[in-house]
Amino acid sequence: MKTLKIADGIHMLTMNVEDILFEGIWEIANGVTLNSYIVQGEKTAIIDGVIGWDGIPETLYSTLEKIGVKPDDIDYLIVNHMEPDHSGWISNFRKIKDDFTIICTDKAAKMVSSFYGEDRIRIVKEGDTLDLGKGKLLSFHPVPNVHWPDTMYTCERDTKTLFSCDMFGAFGRMTDHYFDDELTAEEMDFFEFEGIRYYSNVMTTFTPSIRKAIEKAKELEINIIAPGHGPVYRKNPQKIMDDYSRFSLYAEGAGKNEITILWGSMYGMTAKAVDFVESILKREGVRYNRLEMPLESDSEMVATVFKSAGVIIGAPTYEYKLFPPVAAALNELGRKKITGKLAFRFGSYGWSGGAERELNEIIERNKMNWDFIESVEFEGAPVEEDLIKIEARVLELIKRMREKVVE
Ligand code: FEO
Repeated sequence: MKTLKIADGIHMLTMNVEDILFEGIWEIANGVTLNSYIVQGEKTAIIDGVIGWDGIPETLYSTLEKIGVKPDDIDYLIVNHMEPDHSGWISNFRKIKDDFTIICTDKAAKMVSSFYGEDRIRIVKEGDTLDLGKGKLLSFHPVPNVHWPDTMYTCERDTKTLFSCDMFGAFGRMTDHYFDDELTAEEMDFFEFEGIRYYSNVMTTFTPSIRKAIEKAKELEINIIAPGHGPVYRKNPQKIMDDYSRFSLYAEGAGKNEITILWGSMYGMTAKAVDFVESILKREGVRYNRLEMPLESDSEMVATVFKSAGVIIGAPTYEYKLFPPVAAALNELGRKKITGKLAFRFGSYGWSGGAERELNEIIERNKMNWDFIESVEFEGAPVEEDLIKIEARVLELIKRMREKVVE
C-alpha cells in the first residue's frame, strides 16, 4: 500500500488488488486499485476504506502509521458507498477501536447496519457539513444509484477536492504514477481503456444517474477529483468528467471509430466468413477487434463491444438456437443495458435455422433496441454468393456507423 500527499492534511492510501473476480464476476486483466483518503484537522476522518479480506485491513493500519496516523486517531469513517470493496474492513476496525462515528446517507446506514451490525451512525443529507477543525470542512452530496442507491460525494471545501468513490473511477493497477499530471501518454490511454472497462462492467446500468452525478460535480466547482479506484485528477479534472460523459453515450449506441466482431464457430464454417469479414475490414482500413467466444472474458467482451460504433456478430445455429457462447455474451450486454448499437449478423446452419429467432428474442427481451442490418445465413460453408452479400452488408455497416462515432 502506498501513501501520497494530496494537500496539507490530506493523504491518499492506495493498493493494487490483482487476480480477483471483481464483484465475484469480472475477471479484470489489469487489476484494480482501492483508494482510501485521510483528512486531518483537529479530528481525523477516513473517506472510504478497503475490502475486508484477511490481512488487508491490517495493511491499511500499518500504512496509516507511515503518515503519523494511529488507527486509534480516526474519529470518523466517511462511507461514501457501502459496497464492501470500500467498507469491508469496518468489522475488523471495530475490534481495535470502539469510539468512531460512521457518516453516510440514510440508504447506506440501513446497509451498514444489516451488513456489519453498526449503529453509531450520523446520517447526512445534501449540503450537510462536518468541521474537522484546522480549516478542514467536509460537505456531503448524495448521488444515488452511482453505483448503488446509497452513494454520496464528499467534498473538502478548502482544497475543493471531490472524493467521488466509484464515480470517475477506473480499473487498472497503478505502479509509479498516481496523479493525472504524472501519467505518460501511454498510461493515459491505459487508464482510458480501464475506465471504459470499469464503466461498462460495473456502472453502465446506472447511466441516467451517472449523468446527474456529472452535473452535480460541475456545480460543486472542484479542483481535484479523488476517486475510490484509479488515478487522482488534480491538473485537469474536466478530463475525467468529459470521459464519463462520453462513456455514457457509448452505453446508448455511440462508440469509437471501430468495429467489434463478436463470433463463435463449432467446426469452422462460420469462421470462414469471419476471416472473410476481417479481410474486408483490413482492406477498408477500419479499426476492428476480433473476439472469439467463449475464449474471451466477459469483462473484455463487454468493454470492447461497449466502446465500438459497429458490431458484427458471427454465430451459427446450434440445436435450433443461437450458438450459446454468443447468445450468453449478448444476454450479458442486454443485462448491462448496452443499447442502440448498429449491428450485422451472419452465420452457418446445418439442417435447420433458429439462431436468428433467438437473436431477436434476446434483443427484444432486454430492450436493447439494436439497429440490425439484414442478416445473412448460409447452409454449411459460405459460398461465393453468400460472401458477396456479407461484403455488401459489412460495407453498409462501415458507412452507417460514421454517425455513431464519438471519440
Ligand atoms: Fe467500488 Fe460500487 O464499489
